[in-house]
Amino acid sequence: MYEELVEIVKNKLKSSSHDLSHTFRVYSNCIKIAQNEPNCVVDIDILQAAALLHDIARPEEDMAKDGKKVDHAILGAQQAQEILVNLGKTQQFSESVASAIKTHRFRGGLVPETMEAKILFDADKLDVIGNIGIARSYMIAGEQKQDIYNDCDINEYVKNNLVGGVPSGKIIDISKHTPNIEFATKNVNIPNKMFTQTGKELALARLKRMEEFFNILKQEIRGSM
Ligand SMILES: [Fe+2]
Ligand SMILES: [Fe+2]
Repeated sequence: MYEELVEIVKNKLKSSSHDLSHTFRVYSNCIKIAQNEPNCVVDIDILQAAALLHDIARPEEDMAKDGKKVDHAILGAQQAQEILVNLGKTQQFSESVASAIKTHRFRGGLVPETMEAKILFDADKLDVIGNIGIARSYMIAGEQKQDIYNDCDINEYVKNNLVGGVPSGKIIDISKHTPNIEFATKNVNIPNKMFTQTGKELALARLKRMEEFFNILKQEIRGSM
């Protein structure tokens, strides 16, 4: 099943920040967390299928037009279920994968309930922090036509452009968002939102590296370094 799912994902995910390599990193993070988490009982087949298919509906969300909002976690859960049933997997297996995918989104507001869903959530969030998080946040900034840096008052920004506030409020105007704002309003909160001990430890180390980068960037932009 692994090869079939990889083929499906490869043909579907074309965005540079949410491509097959992101899928593979999330997959590796899932395995790492499952192997290192104390007292972790997990169905590895469900976890692997959920990792491979978790962003399958990202293109539909990215291409949604005319104010139409598509949630790739909700739509992706439906698509994953159909894909797995068509590949001959049982209804129960397909539903378990779908339920993990449905709750993987930070801004989705749905809480992961199973161990597989918690691991997928943490594994996916690890890929938005650390050096890989910096690289991906600038890819997204390019895709969304954002500036490199916004030296604004973060509280003012939150008040005017983040419905629901920190850390998982909805962004009103994505073009005004920047990687340093994403870091200050969302990424710093990621370790506290993690569901596994292993994910949290990895997240704290990654966050430290990311914080260092944005501190230096701020000084360079202000001309003091
Ligand atoms: Fe996602
Ligand atoms: Fe993802």
